[in-house]
Amino acid sequence: MSLSDTSFSIQPVQQSRVGDVDWDNLAFGKIFSDHMFLMEYSDGQWQAGEILPFQPIPMHPAMSAIHYGQSIFEGLKAYRNDDNDTVIFRPDMNAKRFIESAERMCMPPIPEDLFIESVRKLVEVDKEWVSTKPGYSLYIRPFIFATDELVGIKPAETYKFMIITSPVGMYYSEPVRVKIEEYYTRAAKGGVGRAKAAGNYGASLYPAKQCQLEGFHQLIWTDAVEHKYIEESGTMNIVFQIDGKLITPSEDSDTILRGITKRSVLELAKSWGVEVEERKVSVEEIIHAARNGTLEDAFGAGTAATIAQIAIIGFRDERLELPPFETRTLSNKIKDHMEDIKLGRIPDVNGWCFRV
Ligand code: PLP
Ligand code: COI
Repeated sequence: MSLSDTSFSIQPVQQSRVGDVDWDNLAFGKIFSDHMFLMEYSDGQWQAGEILPFQPIPMHPAMSAIHYGQSIFEGLKAYRNDDNDTVIFRPDMNAKRFIESAERMCMPPIPEDLFIESVRKLVEVDKEWVSTKPGYSLYIRPFIFATDELVGIKPAETYKFMIITSPVGMYYSEPVRVKIEEYYTRAAKGGVGRAKAAGNYGASLYPAKQCQLEGFHQLIWTDAVEHKYIEESGTMNIVFQIDGKLITPSEDSDTILRGITKRSVLELAKSWGVEVEERKVSVEEIIHAARNGTLEDAFGAGTAATIAQIAIIGFRDERLELPPFETRTLSNKIKDHMEDIKLGRIPDVNGWCFRV
């Protein structure tokens, strides 16, 4: 379906629930806005999209997504800027990644313009849910899942593409503590690590739970072969700073999710003349730098987590403390600058914010 065919039917709610939201006590992803988007795939094509009141969906017990995990998702955010405009951060990048994930999982992709328009329309309908509170935004969750009613294993012939949105505040309420994982694996070469496939997240729960029992928030994943090279951390990409340079694992392999937040951070830093190295990053190099005090900074980058500065890196029995946050000039500047672009406080020279 091309964008010129795109007109979604809208069934509005009788009464909005936005007035009931307890903005001071929002748990991440627990409250959902008034409407949701739904589009079905059958007979070899995506059918007309609809915006409906947020509601449960009927489900057949043999629905293939439940049994075999043919399910992918995206995550992006809408902000209310200082001019009271609602903007969505880089939805074109999410659209492209959604296509890649769909292809890897044998699912019918959503064309980029259709993805952007469906996200934009849904946010427009629920724009009262985009908070102006500092640090708050509307988290947007597009997803596709297989709906064949069949316990046979093959790519499904029917799917649902849905979008739900959820008002959110900070994902991490304190500086993060992460532990380097040397046994469990998030993704192996040839696997689905680059796709935003639901199963990647289910598989990460057990290892993450082990580190949480030791007082960490998340793991730093390492390569599946030798556990010698750093890949990413939990649901964030990871960036280190040594000698003023930003160093981050390259995304050449198919084991790392190509994050939009990290890409934006690196583009900003480069535009300021900061040296950026995207390459293999060994555990040894980072531990050595942390021990001798040359690791100036480390932070996670992700849509939900935004820029999450790392306080402690756990390695085997060691807990390596990173420098105080006030010394982390570059990541503090990046954090502020990203926020300022989203809130329209400085010119969006790269065209990252899409007006609703
Ligand atoms: N890595 C993983 C595994 C993630 O789930 C996410 C979150 O989306 C990221 C990295 C960061 O990606 P992005 O910045 O596009 O949100
Ligand atoms: C995101 O940052 O969009 C994520 O995917 C994190 C989510 C799993 C909570």
